[in-house]
Amino acid sequence: SPETGCRVWSEEAVRESYPAIPASAHKGTRGKGLVIGGGHMMPGALIMAAKASIRAGAGLTTAATVPAIVPSIAPSLPELMFTGVTETDGVITDIDAGILGGKDGVAVGVGMGRDPRSQSVVETLLTGTEGRLLIDADGLYHLKDLLSSLKEREGETVLTPHIGEMARLCDKEIAEVKRNPFSLSKSFAREYGVSLVLKGPATIITTPGGEQVVETSGNEGLSKGGSGDVLTGILLTTMMQHSSMKEALSNGCFLHGRTAELVIERTRTVYDIVPTDLIDHLSLTFRTME
Ligand code: APR
Ligand code: MG
Repeated sequence: SPETGCRVWSEEAVRESYPAIPASAHKGTRGKGLVIGGGHMMPGALIMAAKASIRAGAGLTTAATVPAIVPSIAPSLPELMFTGVTETDGVITDIDAGILGGKDGVAVGVGMGRDPRSQSVVETLLTGTEGRLLIDADGLYHLKDLLSSLKEREGETVLTPHIGEMARLCDKEIAEVKRNPFSLSKSFAREYGVSLVLKGPATIITTPGGEQVVETSGNEGLSKGGSGDVLTGILLTTMMQHSSMKEALSNGCFLHGRTAELVIERTRTVYDIVPTDLIDHLSLTFRTME
Protein backbone atom coordinates (compact mmCIF):
# COMPACT_ATOMS: atom_id res chain seq x y z
CA SER A 1 0.00 0.00 0.00
CA PRO A 2 1.35 3.45 -0.82
CA GLU A 3 0.49 4.82 2.65
CA THR A 4 2.72 2.47 4.57
CA GLY A 5 5.19 1.54 1.85
CA CYS A 6 4.64 -2.15 2.55
CA ARG A 7 4.23 -4.87 -0.02
CA VAL A 8 1.01 -6.80 -0.65
CA TRP A 9 1.97 -10.46 -1.00
CA SER A 10 0.77 -11.82 -4.35
CA GLU A 11 0.19 -15.25 -5.78
CA GLU A 12 3.08 -14.54 -8.11
CA ALA A 13 5.36 -13.83 -5.15
CA VAL A 14 4.33 -17.19 -3.69
CA ARG A 15 5.12 -19.05 -6.93
CA GLU A 16 8.50 -17.36 -7.18
CA SER A 17 9.56 -18.02 -3.62
CA TYR A 18 7.96 -21.34 -2.62
CA PRO A 19 10.76 -23.94 -2.59
CA ALA A 20 10.32 -26.92 -4.89
CA ILE A 21 10.97 -30.38 -3.47
CA PRO A 22 14.05 -31.88 -5.11
CA ALA A 23 13.69 -35.49 -6.29
CA SER A 24 16.52 -36.37 -3.92
CA ALA A 25 14.56 -35.14 -0.87
CA HIS A 26 14.34 -37.28 2.24
CA LYS A 27 12.63 -36.69 5.56
CA GLY A 28 15.73 -35.13 7.05
CA THR A 29 15.75 -32.39 4.42
CA ARG A 30 12.03 -31.53 4.73
CA GLY A 31 12.24 -30.30 8.30
CA LYS A 32 12.04 -31.94 11.70
CA GLY A 33 9.50 -29.98 13.71
CA LEU A 34 8.32 -30.01 17.31
CA VAL A 35 4.93 -28.76 18.50
CA ILE A 36 4.59 -28.15 22.25
CA GLY A 37 1.14 -27.74 23.80
CA GLY A 38 -2.15 -29.49 24.30
CA GLY A 39 -2.94 -29.95 27.97
CA HIS A 40 -5.74 -32.21 29.17
CA MET A 41 -8.48 -29.75 28.28
CA MET A 42 -7.30 -28.62 24.84
CA PRO A 43 -5.88 -31.53 22.89
CA GLY A 44 -7.62 -30.34 19.71
CA ALA A 45 -5.39 -27.31 19.25
CA LEU A 46 -2.30 -29.49 19.36
CA ILE A 47 -3.85 -32.04 17.01
CA MET A 48 -4.73 -29.36 14.45
CA ALA A 49 -1.29 -27.73 14.57
CA ALA A 50 0.53 -31.05 14.28
CA LYS A 51 -1.70 -32.33 11.50
CA ALA A 52 -1.41 -29.06 9.57
CA SER A 53 2.38 -29.18 9.87
CA ILE A 54 2.42 -32.73 8.51
CA ARG A 55 0.06 -31.92 5.61
CA ALA A 56 2.01 -28.77 4.79
CA GLY A 57 4.94 -31.07 4.11
CA ALA A 58 7.20 -31.38 7.16
CA GLY A 59 9.62 -34.32 7.08
CA LEU A 60 9.07 -35.41 10.67
CA THR A 61 6.72 -33.93 13.24
CA THR A 62 6.85 -34.61 16.97
CA ALA A 63 4.36 -33.45 19.58
CA ALA A 64 5.46 -32.71 23.13
CA THR A 65 2.40 -33.01 25.34
CA VAL A 66 0.94 -34.61 28.43
CA PRO A 67 1.05 -38.42 28.07
CA ALA A 68 -2.63 -38.83 29.00
CA ILE A 69 -3.86 -37.39 25.69
CA VAL A 70 -1.55 -39.46 23.48
CA PRO A 71 -3.89 -42.48 23.19
CA SER A 72 -6.67 -40.21 21.94
CA ILE A 73 -4.48 -38.59 19.27
CA ALA A 74 -2.21 -41.34 18.00
CA PRO A 75 -4.78 -43.54 16.21
CA SER A 76 -6.06 -40.70 14.05
CA LEU A 77 -2.63 -39.23 13.33
CA PRO A 78 -0.23 -42.12 12.77
CA GLU A 79 2.46 -39.93 11.17
CA LEU A 80 2.91 -38.01 14.41
CA MET A 81 5.59 -38.94 16.94
CA PHE A 82 5.37 -38.05 20.62
CA THR A 83 7.67 -37.04 23.38
CA GLY A 84 6.83 -36.59 27.03
CA VAL A 85 6.86 -33.46 29.12
CA THR A 86 6.95 -32.85 32.84
CA GLU A 87 3.36 -32.31 33.94
CA THR A 88 1.15 -31.93 36.97
CA ASP A 89 -2.59 -32.59 36.67
CA GLY A 90 -2.51 -32.15 32.89
CA VAL A 91 -0.53 -28.89 33.09
CA ILE A 92 2.78 -28.88 31.22
CA THR A 93 5.34 -27.62 33.74
CA ASP A 94 8.63 -28.25 31.96
CA ILE A 95 10.33 -29.80 28.98
CA ASP A 96 13.55 -31.76 28.85
CA ALA A 97 15.99 -29.76 26.70
CA GLY A 98 17.00 -33.08 25.10
CA ILE A 99 13.78 -33.16 23.05
CA LEU A 100 14.92 -30.06 21.17
CA GLY A 101 18.03 -31.73 19.74
CA GLY A 102 18.06 -32.00 15.94
CA LYS A 103 14.87 -29.98 15.49
CA ASP A 104 14.69 -27.49 12.62
CA GLY A 105 11.77 -25.62 14.13
CA VAL A 106 9.68 -25.48 17.31
CA ALA A 107 6.16 -24.13 17.81
CA VAL A 108 4.87 -23.60 21.35
CA GLY A 109 1.60 -22.56 22.91
CA VAL A 110 -1.33 -24.19 21.11
CA GLY A 111 -3.77 -25.52 23.70
CA MET A 112 -1.14 -25.17 26.40
CA GLY A 113 -3.35 -23.30 28.87
CA ARG A 114 -2.55 -20.30 31.01
CA ASP A 115 -1.59 -21.99 34.24
CA PRO A 116 1.41 -20.03 35.56
CA ARG A 117 3.32 -23.27 35.99
CA SER A 118 3.60 -23.52 32.18
CA GLN A 119 5.56 -20.31 31.89
CA SER A 120 8.83 -22.13 32.55
CA VAL A 121 8.38 -23.97 29.25
CA VAL A 122 8.48 -20.73 27.29
CA GLU A 123 11.39 -19.52 29.41
CA THR A 124 13.38 -22.69 28.68
CA LEU A 125 12.81 -22.24 24.94
CA LEU A 126 13.81 -18.57 24.98
CA THR A 127 16.95 -18.98 27.02
CA GLY A 128 18.05 -22.50 26.17
CA THR A 129 17.51 -22.84 22.41
CA GLU A 130 18.91 -21.19 19.32
CA GLY A 131 16.77 -22.49 16.45
CA ARG A 132 13.69 -21.04 14.83
CA LEU A 133 10.95 -20.72 17.43
CA LEU A 134 7.30 -19.80 16.87
CA ILE A 135 5.20 -18.68 19.84
CA ASP A 136 1.41 -18.60 19.55
CA ALA A 137 -1.75 -18.53 21.65
CA ASP A 138 -1.16 -19.38 25.33
CA GLY A 139 2.58 -19.28 24.64
CA LEU A 140 2.12 -15.55 23.98
CA TYR A 141 0.23 -15.26 27.25
CA HIS A 142 3.23 -16.67 29.13
CA LEU A 143 5.67 -14.61 27.06
CA LYS A 144 4.27 -11.37 28.44
CA ASP A 145 6.47 -11.57 31.56
CA LEU A 146 9.50 -12.77 29.59
CA LEU A 147 9.68 -10.14 26.85
CA SER A 148 13.15 -8.97 27.86
CA SER A 149 14.58 -12.46 27.16
CA LEU A 150 13.50 -12.05 23.53
CA LYS A 151 16.12 -9.38 23.02
CA GLU A 152 18.93 -11.70 24.05
CA ARG A 153 17.75 -14.71 22.08
CA GLU A 154 20.26 -15.85 19.43
CA GLY A 155 17.83 -17.74 17.19
CA GLU A 156 15.00 -16.31 15.11
CA THR A 157 11.70 -15.94 16.96
CA VAL A 158 8.25 -15.59 15.41
CA LEU A 159 5.19 -14.34 17.31
CA THR A 160 1.72 -14.91 15.80
CA PRO A 161 -0.76 -12.84 17.83
CA HIS A 162 -4.32 -11.96 16.86
CA ILE A 163 -5.27 -8.38 17.64
CA GLY A 164 -6.23 -9.09 21.28
CA GLU A 165 -3.00 -10.95 21.98
CA MET A 166 -1.04 -8.13 20.33
CA ALA A 167 -2.78 -5.53 22.48
CA ARG A 168 -1.85 -7.43 25.62
CA LEU A 169 1.77 -7.89 24.50
CA CYS A 170 2.31 -4.19 23.86
CA ASP A 171 0.11 -2.83 26.68
CA LYS A 172 -2.35 -1.07 24.39
CA GLU A 173 -6.10 -1.05 24.03
CA ILE A 174 -7.43 -3.24 21.23
CA ALA A 175 -8.86 -0.11 19.56
CA GLU A 176 -5.41 1.42 19.44
CA VAL A 177 -3.88 -1.66 17.81
CA LYS A 178 -6.69 -1.52 15.25
CA ARG A 179 -5.93 2.13 14.52
CA ASN A 180 -2.15 1.67 14.18
CA PRO A 181 -1.43 -1.95 13.32
CA PHE A 182 1.51 -1.15 11.05
CA SER A 183 3.40 1.25 13.27
CA LEU A 184 2.81 -0.77 16.46
CA SER A 185 3.96 -3.96 14.70
CA LYS A 186 7.05 -2.26 13.38
CA SER A 187 8.15 -0.78 16.69
CA PHE A 188 7.45 -4.03 18.55
CA ALA A 189 9.32 -6.20 16.04
CA ARG A 190 12.32 -3.88 16.09
CA GLU A 191 12.39 -3.47 19.84
CA TYR A 192 12.31 -7.19 20.57
CA GLY A 193 14.09 -8.45 17.45
CA VAL A 194 11.24 -10.74 16.38
CA SER A 195 9.24 -11.54 13.28
CA LEU A 196 5.62 -10.66 13.90
CA VAL A 197 2.51 -12.08 12.24
CA LEU A 198 -0.40 -9.86 13.29
CA LYS A 199 -3.42 -11.92 12.28
CA GLY A 200 -6.76 -10.68 11.07
CA PRO A 201 -8.83 -10.29 7.89
CA ALA A 202 -5.61 -8.83 6.50
CA THR A 203 -2.49 -10.22 8.15
CA ILE A 204 0.56 -8.00 8.61
CA ILE A 205 3.95 -9.68 8.60
CA THR A 206 6.83 -7.63 10.01
CA THR A 207 10.50 -8.60 10.03
CA PRO A 208 12.88 -7.81 12.91
CA GLY A 209 14.27 -5.06 10.69
CA GLY A 210 10.83 -3.49 10.26
CA GLU A 211 10.08 -4.58 6.69
CA GLN A 212 6.34 -5.25 6.24
CA VAL A 213 4.18 -7.43 4.02
CA VAL A 214 0.38 -7.64 3.97
CA GLU A 215 -1.21 -11.00 3.19
CA THR A 216 -4.88 -10.67 2.28
CA SER A 217 -6.11 -14.15 1.38
CA GLY A 218 -8.82 -15.89 3.39
CA ASN A 219 -12.40 -15.11 4.29
CA GLU A 220 -14.79 -14.75 7.19
CA GLY A 221 -15.23 -18.52 7.37
CA LEU A 222 -11.87 -18.49 9.20
CA SER A 223 -13.36 -16.71 12.20
CA LYS A 224 -13.58 -19.89 14.26
CA GLY A 225 -11.49 -21.32 17.08
CA GLY A 226 -8.84 -23.55 15.55
CA SER A 227 -8.03 -21.48 12.45
CA GLY A 228 -5.07 -20.03 14.31
CA ASP A 229 -3.84 -23.45 15.40
CA VAL A 230 -3.88 -24.63 11.78
CA LEU A 231 -1.88 -21.56 10.76
CA THR A 232 0.70 -22.32 13.46
CA GLY A 233 1.22 -25.82 12.08
CA ILE A 234 1.57 -24.52 8.53
CA LEU A 235 4.05 -21.83 9.60
CA LEU A 236 6.11 -24.37 11.55
CA THR A 237 6.60 -26.22 8.28
CA THR A 238 7.20 -23.21 6.04
CA MET A 239 9.73 -21.73 8.46
CA MET A 240 11.71 -24.98 8.30
CA GLN A 241 11.64 -25.02 4.50
CA HIS A 242 12.44 -21.43 3.53
CA SER A 243 15.70 -19.65 4.22
CA SER A 244 13.97 -16.24 4.23
CA MET A 245 11.71 -15.96 7.26
CA LYS A 246 9.71 -13.22 5.55
CA GLU A 247 8.91 -15.52 2.64
CA ALA A 248 8.21 -18.45 4.98
CA LEU A 249 5.60 -16.47 6.91
CA SER A 250 4.02 -14.78 3.90
CA ASN A 251 3.77 -18.04 1.98
CA GLY A 252 2.40 -19.88 5.01
CA CYS A 253 -0.32 -17.26 5.52
CA PHE A 254 -1.15 -17.51 1.82
CA LEU A 255 -1.41 -21.31 1.99
CA HIS A 256 -3.84 -20.99 4.91
CA GLY A 257 -6.02 -18.20 3.52
CA ARG A 258 -6.07 -19.32 -0.11
CA THR A 259 -7.12 -22.81 0.96
CA ALA A 260 -10.09 -21.31 2.79
CA GLU A 261 -11.08 -19.55 -0.45
CA LEU A 262 -10.73 -22.69 -2.56
CA VAL A 263 -12.61 -24.89 -0.07
CA ILE A 264 -15.51 -22.47 -0.30
CA GLU A 265 -15.46 -22.54 -4.10
CA ARG A 266 -15.45 -26.33 -4.05
CA THR A 267 -17.55 -27.66 -1.19
CA ARG A 268 -18.10 -25.69 1.98
CA THR A 269 -19.50 -22.22 2.58
CA VAL A 270 -18.30 -19.48 4.91
CA TYR A 271 -20.96 -20.73 7.32
CA ASP A 272 -19.91 -24.31 7.73
CA ILE A 273 -16.20 -24.42 6.86
CA VAL A 274 -14.16 -25.58 9.86
CA PRO A 275 -10.42 -25.37 10.47
CA THR A 276 -9.82 -29.07 9.83
CA ASP A 277 -11.24 -28.55 6.31
CA LEU A 278 -8.18 -26.43 5.63
CA ILE A 279 -5.82 -29.21 6.64
CA ASP A 280 -7.64 -31.71 4.43
CA HIS A 281 -7.59 -29.39 1.41
CA LEU A 282 -4.11 -27.88 1.33
CA SER A 283 -3.68 -29.75 -1.95
CA LEU A 284 -6.16 -27.35 -3.59
CA THR A 285 -3.66 -24.54 -3.05
CA PHE A 286 -0.51 -26.59 -3.68
CA ARG A 287 -1.92 -27.59 -7.08
CA THR A 288 -2.23 -23.97 -8.12
CA MET A 289 1.45 -23.49 -7.29
CA GLU A 290 2.81 -26.34 -9.43
N1 APR B 1 -11.01 -12.97 7.31
C1 APR B 1 -9.84 -13.56 6.99
N2 APR B 1 -9.11 -14.30 7.87
C2 APR B 1 -9.56 -14.43 9.12
C3 APR B 1 -10.78 -13.85 9.53
C4 APR B 1 -11.53 -13.09 8.56
N3 APR B 1 -12.68 -12.50 8.87
N4 APR B 1 -10.98 -14.18 10.84
C5 APR B 1 -9.92 -14.92 11.22
N5 APR B 1 -9.06 -15.09 10.20
C6 APR B 1 -7.80 -15.82 10.22
C7 APR B 1 -6.70 -15.01 10.89
O1 APR B 1 -5.98 -14.25 9.96
C8 APR B 1 -5.84 -16.11 11.53
O2 APR B 1 -4.98 -16.67 10.58
O3 APR B 1 -7.95 -16.99 11.02
C9 APR B 1 -6.87 -17.14 11.94
C10 APR B 1 -7.41 -16.95 13.36
O4 APR B 1 -6.39 -17.11 14.30
P1 APR B 1 -6.66 -16.85 15.87
O5 APR B 1 -7.32 -15.53 16.04
O6 APR B 1 -5.41 -17.13 16.58
O7 APR B 1 -7.79 -17.94 16.19
P2 APR B 1 -7.73 -19.29 17.05
O8 APR B 1 -6.52 -19.35 17.86
O9 APR B 1 -7.98 -20.42 16.18
O10 APR B 1 -9.00 -19.11 17.98
C11 APR B 1 -9.11 -18.06 18.91
O11 APR B 1 -7.46 -17.43 20.48
O12 APR B 1 -7.73 -15.68 22.00
C12 APR B 1 -7.53 -17.06 21.84
O13 APR B 1 -8.17 -18.56 23.45
C13 APR B 1 -8.70 -17.76 22.44
O14 APR B 1 -9.42 -19.92 21.69
C14 APR B 1 -9.34 -18.57 21.35
C15 APR B 1 -8.41 -18.44 20.20
MG1 MG C 1 -4.93 -18.21 18.28
